[in-house]
Amino acid sequence: MSKKILVAYTSKYGSTRKYAEWIASALNADLFAAQTVEPKVLSQYDIIIYGGGLYAGGIAGVKLVTQNPCKNLIMFTVGLANPHSTDYSAIINKNFTPELLERTKFFHLRGGIDYKKLSPVHKVMMAMMKGMIQRKPESEREVDDKEFLNTYNSKVNFEDKRTIDSIISYVEGL
Ligand SMILES: Cc1cc2nc3c(=O)[nH]c(=O)nc-3n(C[C@H](O)[C@H](O)[C@H](O)COP(=O)(O)O)c2cc1C
Repeated sequence: MSKKILVAYTSKYGSTRKYAEWIASALNADLFAAQTVEPKVLSQYDIIIYGGGLYAGGIAGVKLVTQNPCKNLIMFTVGLANPHSTDYSAIINKNFTPELLERTKFFHLRGGIDYKKLSPVHKVMMAMMKGMIQRKPESEREVDDKEFLNTYNSKVNFEDKRTIDSIISYVEGL
């Protein structure tokens, strides 16, 4: 019997939505923006895959799946930072209890940014971030800090469809 899979997402500028669409299509899953999902429908699914954009250390819309029971939860985050050199433990521990953490599988994907399209609040947040990095002595700046400064006020896109493969294989193996 095939498993019923839901892919739900919260995406402000479209990167997480794109990954969610790719994943749902590869797995033949139902696909919904999280704000349209009634919490009670979650119990109808065998597997729930939730994707949220990263915003200042938070995972957009994640409460849908942290505050409602999900049988089998798989999370993917989408951020600007390079997943190979990023430690996500603070973000994860802030949003997930140790008990929920034990039952959740995480994946981290890379999105992009187009400063021209940012909301006024997000523009201010990014300007503050730039200021914080610039106040660090150069010798203390991380690779991601340097990349942030190099790409500040421009447009970058690291979306890569192949990076969903590990999620697809994991779900197919359940
Ligand atoms: C105000 C702001 C804060 C952000 N904070 C983070 C962050 O903490 N970590 C990260 O990796 N990316 C961060 N980003 C980048 C976004 O996660 C990235 O643009 C992602 O592709 C957004 O996904 P979305 O288009 O689905 O909303 C931030 C972007 C903005 C505008």
